[in-house]
Parts: sequence; structure tokens; C-alpha cells
Amino acid sequence: MSDFLYDRLADEFAGLIAARVLQPGERLPSVRRLAMQKRLSVSTVLQALRQLEDRGLVEARPQAGFYVRRRGRAPAEPAVRGKLTRPTFVGVNQLLMQVLHANEQPGVLPLGAAHPGPGLLPSLRMQRMFAKVARGRADLLAVGSCVRGNDARLVRQIVRRSVDCGGPLAADEIIVTNSCTEALNLCLRAVAGPGDTIALESPTYFVLLQIIESLGMKALEIPTHPRSGVSVEALELATRGGAVKACLLIPNVNNPLGCIMPEENKRAVARLLAERNVPLIEDDVYGDLHFEGARPWPIKAYDTSGNVMLCSSFSKTVSPALLVGYIAAGRFHAEVALLKTLASGVTGAVPQAALAEFIEGGGFDRQVRHARRAYARQVARMSDAVAEHFPADCLLSRPQGGFVLWVEMPRQVDALELHREAVAAGIAFTPGQLFSASGRYRNCLRLNCGNPWDARFDAALRRLGELVRARL
Ligand SMILES: Cc1ncc(COP(=O)(O)O)c(C=O)c1O
Repeated sequence: MSDFLYDRLADEFAGLIAARVLQPGERLPSVRRLAMQKRLSVSTVLQALRQLEDRGLVEARPQAGFYVRRRGRAPAEPAVRGKLTRPTFVGVNQLLMQVLHANEQPGVLPLGAAHPGPGLLPSLRMQRMFAKVARGRADLLAVGSCVRGNDARLVRQIVRRSVDCGGPLAADEIIVTNSCTEALNLCLRAVAGPGDTIALESPTYFVLLQIIESLGMKALEIPTHPRSGVSVEALELATRGGAVKACLLIPNVNNPLGCIMPEENKRAVARLLAERNVPLIEDDVYGDLHFEGARPWPIKAYDTSGNVMLCSSFSKTVSPALLVGYIAAGRFHAEVALLKTLASGVTGAVPQAALAEFIEGGGFDRQVRHARRAYARQVARMSDAVAEHFPADCLLSRPQGGFVLWVEMPRQVDALELHREAVAAGIAFTPGQLFSASGRYRNCLRLNCGNPWDARFDAALRRLGELVRARL
């Protein structure tokens, strides 16, 4: 037996892995916990883990700790799919409602909608914030205003946070909205009308397509790389000649691909669209949920002419039930503010005040730190399960944040047909067809990793893998 404590610890874990007491994909206890349990120093434990890594038995995952390595290879990543074609009217609404309805049947496992797991949201702390605000500020429950709907403290916090990502935003260009969805609707209506063409990433979040459909606009799908996001060259080509009226992008943690555009591409897109006078509506709802490094900047940070309308909300970080989002509308502020007043008056005073209280007290920063680590872990766990249970030639995204995964299956597999079978087996997911205006991604699907992993998810992924194989 070695004299070195780290050798002995590494051997102990190697034995547990060989005996499959520790299973492939399983997370090891944290370094700190191991140090406490084994009465060893943190550096000794780290040395043991590094040794296990060198032996190929464990792997370190960013923000998530050490995991027992799976023996199989990691699935390859999808490539850019689809070419730049013509703008098309969108027809996803009916199909989408059917899929959402099926996914929400009682007892169906929630791998469909991109919802954060309820246990990961700060619901109890928000309950206290609401109670405090309602007790101390009865005026908020009685007095309304049709024009001054912003809570000044909340706006201050939004501005303060924007300093960390290329800001600061100007307080007087911010409009607080009821969700990011409302923000996106208002911005689109401010700059485009029926029949106009809107350029978007492909694949893209289906609600963006739905909004375009409901406003009678056309979608132009721009090829998008699963790592670096929308193709700047294709966007340059698409915006020649003035046919594109506006652009609608998710540059930070695209839904469904999970990619973050490199900063130089963001700068190039800001410049290109400003030069061509094409307004950009930027959806930054996942920007705080990046896995590594500093908070990625929005394209808005590179905008010098007010051409970018930044839209976001607290749905993915605090709660989708809160219904608080915002727009920094740049030079379109007056149009957007009018549309907001006509659409819904103002945004609820109590939720805004409760949120301001939460952010001011440091709760938001703590929550985001915790959520980023949890989602990185959950995405890693789900990726392992796809690698283990799906056919080897499936391709899998490597998200840089958020909590969804994108799987490309062999061409024979129709995701809508698979979806019908999966729902009958009690498993939801979102079929790829919904992420395109022109029926692309027939053989793709999106999985929600918002919920903490447990045995039900492993069984569901195994079953889903069997259903995919049965179609080959
Ligand atoms: C990219 C993107 N934008 C916006 C939203 C919706 O945000 P909200 O709930 O604030 O309307 C979602 C929700 O899934 C999303 O994925």
C-alpha cells in the first residue's frame, strides 16, 4: 500500500468504481465534504481526484464537481442545418397547442416545457418578500398609474446589474413588462407589421415563431451554429436589399441549442444591423444562467445608436409565475411605451416591489449562483443518460448555459410520431418541428433539464431510447 494519503484515497475510489458501487455518471461527494469525511486536507483530496482523472476513471465538470466517467464515447455535436432560403409565413400555432396540451397531461414526466424545477426557485424567500411588501406598502395595493408603471427601485437594480455586462442601461429607456413574452410582442409590433419579414436563428424558440405568426409576419430562418450561434455571414446576406424589417435573436444561451455567441460576433451583428437600419430585438432571458466565466454581454452592450431592444424577465431565475420582465427599448422607447400602455396598462406594483427587495438584499445573486451550478449538473446528467440510452449515431448539443438539450436523431425518426408514443408512455419532450417555420428538424427533439435528476428520469430516458431504436 502506498504511503501517500492521496494514493490511498484514489485507490479506495477506484475500487468502488470497479465494483460499480459508484455508477458511471454518478457525482462524487464535493471536495470539501470528502476532506471532512476522511479527515484530510482539501489539497490531498484534490490530488486524489486528479489522479483518478488521469487514470480515466472520473471527470471534472465545470461548476459541477467530479463524476464517474462513462465508458462509452460522448455523442458528437450537431452541425449547422438548413440553408438560407426564402421568408415564409409561419404555421406552428395549432401543432404547438396540441403538443403543449399533451405534455401537460397529469403524470407525464416534465421533459417538455423549458421550466426551471420548482425546487430550484426561491419560492419561500419570495413569499417573505411579498409579505413584507404587502404589510409595509398598502399603498401599492390601492394606487394605480397608467403611465408610470415602473418601480424605481427595481429599475435601479436592473441598471446596476447591467453594469456587469457592458452597461449601464439608461434608466429612462427601461419599461417593466409582464414577462419577456410581452416584451418581445411589444417590440415586434413597434417596428414591423403584417407581411414584414423577421430574421431569426434556426432553430429558434417556438414562441418567437408563434408571435410572428399571430402578427401575420414572415420568418426568415438564418443558419445557426450549435456553438457560436447565428451565422454572421448569412445574416449579412439576408439583410442585403432591405427586405428584412427586423431581427429577433437569442444570442446568450439560445433556446434550444444553448449556445452563446462569441463577443466579436455580437459586435459584428450590432454594427451590421445598425448600418442597415434593421432593428434588433434581443431576447436575453437566459443570460444570467451561463455555466462558465463572466456574465456574457448582450448585443445591446455593443449598440451605439439605440438600434437594439433588449428584452428579458425573471421567469427563468426567480419564477415564471412572478410575471415581471423588462425592455430597454433604445430609440424605439416612445413607440414601445405607448404599445405597453395600450396592451396591459402597467406591470403589477407588488411583484415589482417584492423583486426589488429580493435583489437589493443579495438574494438574486445568491440564487443565480446556485441555479447555474445546479443546471450545469442537471444538463451533464441528462447528457450522460442520452449517451447511454440513445442510439450511438444521435448527435447532442453541448449547452453553454440554461437547461435544455437538443438531440438530433437518425433521419428515419419523426419526432412528432415519437412524441405521440412517448406521451402514451408518460414522457414529454418538445419535437424539433416546432423550432422551425419551414418544417425543419423533423428528426430532432428538445429535452428540459430543469428538474433535479432522479431515477424516474433515468427510466424515462431509457424508454425514450428504446422508442427511438424501434423506429430505425
Ligand atoms: C428564449 C425564451 N424567451 C422567453 C421565454 C419566456 O419568458 P417569459 O416567461 O418571461 O415570458 C422563454 C421561455 O421558455 C424562452 O425560452
